[in-house]
Amino acid sequence: MSKPIQIGPVQAGMSVPDREIIALWKRSFGPEFQLDEALWQQNTAKDPSFLPSDIILARDGSGTLLGFVVVKIFRDLLNHPGEKLERYAGFGYIAAIAVSPEQRRKGLGRELLAQAETYLADNGATTLYVGESFRHFFPGVPVHNRAAVEFFAGSGYELGTLESDLDGPLDPAFFEPVLKASNKVTYRQGLPGEEAALLSFLSRTFPGRWHYDTRLFLEQGGSIEDVSLVIDLQDQIQGFLLSYKPGDKVIGPGRYWLNEKPDWGGIGPLGLNKDARGLGAGLGVVAAGMQHLYRHGLKSARIDWTTLVDFYGKLGFKPALTYQRATRPIISKVKGEDDV
Ligand SMILES: CC(C)(COP(=O)(O)OP(=O)(O)OC[C@H]1O[C@@H](n2cnc3c(N)ncnc32)[C@H](O)[C@@H]1OP(=O)(O)O)[C@@H](O)C(=O)NCCC(=O)NCCS
Repeated sequence: MSKPIQIGPVQAGMSVPDREIIALWKRSFGPEFQLDEALWQQNTAKDPSFLPSDIILARDGSGTLLGFVVVKIFRDLLNHPGEKLERYAGFGYIAAIAVSPEQRRKGLGRELLAQAETYLADNGATTLYVGESFRHFFPGVPVHNRAAVEFFAGSGYELGTLESDLDGPLDPAFFEPVLKASNKVTYRQGLPGEEAALLSFLSRTFPGRWHYDTRLFLEQGGSIEDVSLVIDLQDQIQGFLLSYKPGDKVIGPGRYWLNEKPDWGGIGPLGLNKDARGLGAGLGVVAAGMQHLYRHGLKSARIDWTTLVDFYGKLGFKPALTYQRATRPIISKVKGEDDV
């Protein structure tokens, strides 16, 4: 008799079988989501919140990997108190789930998801999200993947807002006129030594995830020179935009799935101080980021995880991939319910 399928988290003290997981990921996802080793490491081992037990594996009796789920919880709160990150307490994320193509429609995905949900609940989660995590892989469920949408909808997740990744050309005909639109602000790339000023701007204006993510970006070798700044007439930072090039130390979300495309850049996030809104500086700083990437010889760019399709459309960007937010509460068991 063949041994049953074993499902469980990577045990404490055991190393994560990175190569096996990446190989299965590549067979499970389509050509639009081909993961490489660097991205995998960045979004697991190099995520300060990551624990090996956040990966749950399904293996057959002979040890072959049949499926996996990566969950996430934000665990870095103690290191960053007072930064408005408390709102992420109780959030549990299904960061990625995959079952090998030969093993689908046998209930394995559902079984992996159930174990992931129990693990997240045991670790304090009260609401579950598909994607969206810190150091995320996806902003939600990829809409073009019917199996994934049906899978989560059928597992009690409520489907919500659509989010898109947008692709566009780095064409001076789009970005040059926009750069000249306002006389109240100017744009330039950040300068070495300006890191503290950028983080101070972010902690005042966008305390929470953008501040945290940008600090991590800088700590892990991201360059301030890849941050476009909106500068007011008093020489103060009023806005920011991150952009990414191939080969950068930090793989920006816009470049997650473009590792085979050496002439593509990534753009985002972007944020402006309230006082700087309504001046055209939002589009202006995107144009500055486009110009920065263009000057590095790149031809196209992807802007990730946005609902602002019309806004970025003015600079020539169009939806390339669409995701749907998916969430469900964890309904805690009433004590004694199963104890009869
Ligand atoms: C999504 C995925 C993990 C589902 O794994 P699975 O083992 O086939 O799922 P299950 O057998 O447990 O299916 C559970 C339910 O999901 C739904 N479902 C799964 N695949 C489906 C499909 N192709 N079409 C329609 N419904 C589907 C069904 O309701 C199914 O129940 P049923 O078989 O009783 O009708 C798998 O298709 C996969 O690995 N896809 C590629 C990776 C991916 O897209 N991951 C999601 C984004 S992170």
